[in-house]
Amino acid sequence: MKKRKYQTRLLLLFCILLSFVSALGYGTWCHFAKQPAATADTITASQVQEHSQVSVHSSHAAKSPSATDNPLYILVNKDHKLPKHYKPDLVTLKNKKQVCSEMYRHLKEMWFDCEKAGPGYSISVVSAYRTAHKQSELLRDEIKKNERLGMTAKQAKKDALRTVAPAGYSEHETGLCVDITATDYQMLNEHQAETPENKWLRKHCADYGFILRYPKHKEKITGYQYESWHFRYVGKKAAKTITKKGITLEEYLEDY
Ligand code: DAL
Ligand code: ZN
Repeated sequence: MKKRKYQTRLLLLFCILLSFVSALGYGTWCHFAKQPAATADTITASQVQEHSQVSVHSSHAAKSPSATDNPLYILVNKDHKLPKHYKPDLVTLKNKKQVCSEMYRHLKEMWFDCEKAGPGYSISVVSAYRTAHKQSELLRDEIKKNERLGMTAKQAKKDALRTVAPAGYSEHETGLCVDITATDYQMLNEHQAETPENKWLRKHCADYGFILRYPKHKEKITGYQYESWHFRYVGKKAAKTITKKGITLEEYLEDY
């Protein structure tokens, strides 16, 4: 009888131990099972990596500092500084330039279609995301170049600011724009617009969600000289309206 009681207690103890161990195991399993699934951005980034041999820089979601609800419409110009803690979600291209993940797929489509559009057509992304530090270096170099050309310090700065934004005020810091040139003519000057690739890009960019951000005759609104190479991603809806109406992003957002 005593032996039976002992066996029952042992069995009870074993059962308690078993349930404790399984509860622990279930908890651990739950911990992994409840790990968040890959976000849309992560998926995009890994697909990109698989198909295009690019690497992912970060997967932090871009903040939405725009006056509107759409983060793609963020306005960065001489009057609108980039918010201090803005952190774009970047994807790195084969040539190490980085672009915002929202734009990547559309850039790739535009790129392929442009290169298919004519014999020998080839384009290069010569500038994309820039850090504030890089932006200030670009401005400093432009000012120095102007001074070497004989301008006074004041003139040199004023002239440089017509083509290069100061750090914190360039939309290149958003990762939402790219400077694209014909591969056999990588100069950012007025002759870029004469290349067949640039003509194609300007004509078709809205179909892929891009706008020519600094058009001719809109310098007073955009604050910058005509740049036939600077394309800004805003999504197809806005790009088509902006292009069809022949307006700038500033004008589009005014009516938005
Ligand atoms: N070239 C454009 C305006 C920039 O520097 O952001
Ligand atoms: Zn640019």
